[in-house]
Amino acid sequence: MAYSCGSCGYRSIKWLGRCPSCGEWDSFAAQEANTKAEKDSASSWIGETLCPINEIDLGEIKRLKSGIGEIDRILGGGLIPGSVILFGGEPGIGKSTLLLQLAQSVARENGNVLYISGEESAAQIKLRADRLGVEDKHLYVLSEQSLSRIIASIKQVDPCVLIVDSIQATVSDGTLGEAGSVRQLRETSAKLTRITKSRKMTTFLVGHITKEGTFAGPKTVEHLVDVAIYLEGHRGEDTRILRSVKNRFGRTNEVAVFQMRTDGLKEITNPSRFFLEEQQREPGAGTVIVPILEGTRPILVELQALVSPTGGYRAPQRRSSGLDYNRVAVLLAVIERRLGIHTSDADVYLSIAGGLETRERATDLGIVAAVVSSLRNRPVTGRTVIVGEVGLSGELRRVKNLRERITEAEKLGYKRVIVPAVPKPPTRKRIDVVPTQTVEQAMDTLMLR
Ligand SMILES: Nc1ncnc2c1ncn2[C@@H]1O[C@H](COP(=O)(O)OP(=O)(O)O)[C@@H](O)[C@H]1O
Ligand SMILES: [Mg+2]
Repeated sequence: MAYSCGSCGYRSIKWLGRCPSCGEWDSFAAQEANTKAEKDSASSWIGETLCPINEIDLGEIKRLKSGIGEIDRILGGGLIPGSVILFGGEPGIGKSTLLLQLAQSVARENGNVLYISGEESAAQIKLRADRLGVEDKHLYVLSEQSLSRIIASIKQVDPCVLIVDSIQATVSDGTLGEAGSVRQLRETSAKLTRITKSRKMTTFLVGHITKEGTFAGPKTVEHLVDVAIYLEGHRGEDTRILRSVKNRFGRTNEVAVFQMRTDGLKEITNPSRFFLEEQQREPGAGTVIVPILEGTRPILVELQALVSPTGGYRAPQRRSSGLDYNRVAVLLAVIERRLGIHTSDADVYLSIAGGLETRERATDLGIVAAVVSSLRNRPVTGRTVIVGEVGLSGELRRVKNLRERITEAEKLGYKRVIVPAVPKPPTRKRIDVVPTQTVEQAMDTLMLR
């Protein structure tokens, strides 16, 4: 006889009131009752026959177009029949919204879609659907938490796409643990995976994750699914980023950008243009344009610095949003030593527009330029984009995907790009590529010194 925590799976030979691993109270249950069920499920996997690899019949793997181009793109070109996609994100970020929109466009193009909600009533779903303009006779909606009834409805509707919103709200009858516990998550995901493969449908499992990425979250089923995508964003910002973190059929780290509106999430097919609202005007002092890499895709964004004298006896403030604070501290030291510019008696605020985030070293030179530009109250002119990692002795280092970043800047009509000196710097027709060795040199080129 053994006991295990229903929340995190921690095992113990005696019953415990509080789990030493996750701190949950009253979460221990005797394990024996479940071991037989576990054995059964392990032996009844997808049920294909043994055969040498050269004789496996692929048939024709045809990807289904979801009708939302950006989602198809980050999945690697559409939905693969028989695949399970984990769709994660914080509560309230827009998962149900986006999936209902996806359900509509799949139903319109491809046939039956079944949308199961374990969190909202059919009337609530209908309200949202009305707001989003979702209405298709091939879209079936069911408010249900019990896995066996969900499976019965799958057999009834025979959908090409199934959406389970959310996996934490789904319970497998006969499995111990409350909804959302690790055991339930594993069991329901495994059963839904099996039925997905055998019916050759595509299943989206919605998973809530919290900022802390709680233990009993969707991370525990990531290994079971074929694809994991996460919807991210910041409170107060209407930008949402959909990111693929695992994909058995395509690249990972692909990114799609959406904007949250009253009528749903709208895809942003040209993110650089979207994030550079005032791109036709020259930016003011303290603002520079940098290309950041989201997945493999460069996006041009505004990086802003505000440097102002601290005054009084206060300690100087340093704040950065969307940027790595520790990196900023290092760069301020480089500014001090290499450029002889003191910021120790000034408040320094840095941010990236649009609620984006980056930890890329390629924005180093942009940060330095923005700080110096703000401090000197001199703008960076000449429709200039800035790229480069800064070393501790002020030397500029190469960055990855430099060519793609330059191309994006050229495409958006920028005229000059400051880049680290590399052996064979790329040259372009419509944009002036300026290879630079050091921060000092870069500041001279930008006329900020
Ligand atoms: N009536 C409304 N008008 C505009 N936006 C709304 C409205 N109702 C909800 N929203 C937006 O939709 C978001 C909820 O999205 P939802 O898809 O339910 O999130 P999730 O499923 O990820 O928890 C809210 O945070 C809000 O921004
Ligand atoms: Mg929801």
